Amino acid sequence: MPLETSGPATIADDKTQSEAARVADILSRMSVERKVAQLIQPQINSFTAEDMKRYRFGSYLNGGNGGPYGDEFAPADRWLALADEMWAASTAPLPDGEPVIPAIWGTDAVHGHTNVPGATIFPHNIGLGATRDADLVRRIGAATGAEIQATGIDWNFSPTVAVARDDRWGRTYESYSEDPTIVAPLGAALVEGLQGIPGRKDYLGTGHVAATAKHFFADGGTSQGVDQGDVNGDIEALKAIHAVPYPAAIDAGVEVVMASFNSINGVKMHGNRDLLTGVLRDEMGFKGVVVGDWNAHGQIDGCTVSDCPQALLAGLDIYMVPDDWKALLENLVAQVEDGTIPMARLDEAVGRVLRLKLRLGLLDSDAKKPSARGDGGDFAQLGSPAHRAIAREAVAKSQVLLKNDGVLPLKRGARLLVAGSAADDIAKAAGGWTLTWQGGGELDNSYFPNATSIYRALSDEAKAAGGSATLSPDGAIDPSGYDAAIVVFGEEPYAEFVGDRKTMVFDDTEGLDLLRKYKAAGVPTVAVFLSGRPMWMNRELNAADAFVASWLPGSEGAGVSDILFGKRDTTGRLSFSWPADCGGAPVNGPGGALFNVGYGLSLTDKRAVPTLSEKCGYVSEGRATAWYDLGRLGGGITALGGETRLPNLVGQGGGIVARGFDKDRQEDAREITFGPGATLSLAQSGSGSGDYRILYNLADQPAGKVTLTVGDDRIDITRNLALSAGKGWREMIITEDCAPDLGDRIAITSAAPMTIQIARIARQDMPEGAQCSF
Ligand code: BGC
Ligand code: BGC
Repeated sequence: MPLETSGPATIADDKTQSEAARVADILSRMSVERKVAQLIQPQINSFTAEDMKRYRFGSYLNGGNGGPYGDEFAPADRWLALADEMWAASTAPLPDGEPVIPAIWGTDAVHGHTNVPGATIFPHNIGLGATRDADLVRRIGAATGAEIQATGIDWNFSPTVAVARDDRWGRTYESYSEDPTIVAPLGAALVEGLQGIPGRKDYLGTGHVAATAKHFFADGGTSQGVDQGDVNGDIEALKAIHAVPYPAAIDAGVEVVMASFNSINGVKMHGNRDLLTGVLRDEMGFKGVVVGDWNAHGQIDGCTVSDCPQALLAGLDIYMVPDDWKALLENLVAQVEDGTIPMARLDEAVGRVLRLKLRLGLLDSDAKKPSARGDGGDFAQLGSPAHRAIAREAVAKSQVLLKNDGVLPLKRGARLLVAGSAADDIAKAAGGWTLTWQGGGELDNSYFPNATSIYRALSDEAKAAGGSATLSPDGAIDPSGYDAAIVVFGEEPYAEFVGDRKTMVFDDTEGLDLLRKYKAAGVPTVAVFLSGRPMWMNRELNAADAFVASWLPGSEGAGVSDILFGKRDTTGRLSFSWPADCGGAPVNGPGGALFNVGYGLSLTDKRAVPTLSEKCGYVSEGRATAWYDLGRLGGGITALGGETRLPNLVGQGGGIVARGFDKDRQEDAREITFGPGATLSLAQSGSGSGDYRILYNLADQPAGKVTLTVGDDRIDITRNLALSAGKGWREMIITEDCAPDLGDRIAITSAAPMTIQIARIARQDMPEGAQCSF
């Protein structure tokens, strides 16, 4: 398709008119269909440029697992190519002479533009909270804005200004602090960095993109830290904690606020007129766009994802509707036509979207396609030395030293043993929302061309200082003769509800075992803990001579080595209370805290922490590993489709196309399409054993032979599938009855094209003699 270089010519662009007059003029020339389309935001893997040309969505997004042209790991030029293609499609002249309105693209650059390979990966917000440094966060925003714009994207779904009050919540790391007075200035600073300062010439111009304060509000206040859960209590008391960051972001000019998934006192936020309109608009004076969260409108009582006038009526302006955009669009048009939705409300919402586009300069006659705009196409922005220097500074300033017997700073010339599987693992240091939604999994260091692991940085620094660093991922190397052992360990990456926990126990003892082993050998130990939250670390603190809470630092391991070698003093101070107990009851403030907000040692503070109680009622519970959930799996199961691996089972290769979709929750299932003769093989990396339970849904009878391979057994399941097709979700149970060798690998081969949905594959012992069933 030829790319348009000129702006949307049919817009009246008399810049001398006020914003309001320009918006009113455009609105007056739009049909109901075109207006509604401005409120529809699908995701890039669910529509084509043809759809864009036909329906003219106002905006679109890439989800955490989505990349351009179906490639999650697409290089920067592919992102830009898609942006240009959608620009052309959305600005092609309309036959009826209606105004053409360019679509804008939103993304989750929540710690740098980390969906794109090579981008600078900044520390997650929890680390930035420990810096308390608004100027630093403003510079991070500006760097991120430039990297986003380089790839043709207009809009960032960031900052998260959640005030996380229960660290069991899987999004705690997206929160700057449990204290709203720490969150507010940092959120506002990120907004200013991303957008620029209102009134200045470069506002939303070169190097700047629209920002989103999210998730309004009380996302960090759910009962037991359950993501998307319920928040209960006196509304004024809730506002006094969770709504505090919003006025600051609004003052900073934030153009967009994202509504939250959670409910407050029983009413889902997306349908809560009192809060979305009453509090956000009337009380706080927010004038920008309210965007919904991922299908969250579908959670309102009485709504489905494709039918929900309630959200618009409550005050939502844009529906984030990744997949079901067509039905939602048609329903909304009908609801405007039958009066369910007043025209005034529609015009108000569309007017806000238009005003945002005006401010982005996209409705001017000289508006340019993404690649010709500002930093568009300047891929040197991604991971540039200047941006990486900001990230390194941020990492160093975010490290919080909890204990130091005197082993830190490391001595020049020291021989170091650097141990633990996380030491040389950039994905683990980066956490969730990095290249993939969940992060981790298959992302080895080769995925991060512009990054330095913690080990690499320590090694470079040690050598430069006349010493050495030896890597021992499994800790097998004999520690004798080393001056210090640095043990890097921490949480596996996660995002959103996948990271929800029941307790503060860290039940992976890899780090603990290494610390104890080196201590017993008389080698001084330094613990570097990578985590998205404070956790119960009493055992590790006892076993370590120095302990650094490193959070999720991202691409610049050198920021960690700067601290360990004392090239900078530790200025990071806790922005979350560190729990004394493993149980998981929320700790916000001194009650129940081992270390309070504000705690953190300087390198000159030699302070021993007294031996801590290691009693915990939950430690021996073990992990429930019996169930594997395809959608949330990350590295647990790897799909091998011919020569191409299918990361997180989303992608394509070997005749297989897999995409995530929502069954009961976000992307809790995969839809897998087989080309003729294609094989999907699932290798289990966990230690589960027993029979297989596979939850699946097949719409149509297979058109050719389908074989299930379990271990070394091949079973023809064509007839079984023919019988279960069209009957909705079913469970397939495979026991030794039909597959004597259960093995630990299963594969499905289809001779003919076939589409099957799979929500879950679990291993569990069925009763003796249980038969196979489909
Ligand atoms: C998250 C948002 C995010 C959106 C788009 C949602 O699930 O809650 O934070 O911006 O998806 O990826
Ligand atoms: C995330 C998306 C992600 C999706 C998967 C959402 O919560 O925000 O970015 O791709 O879930 O369901």
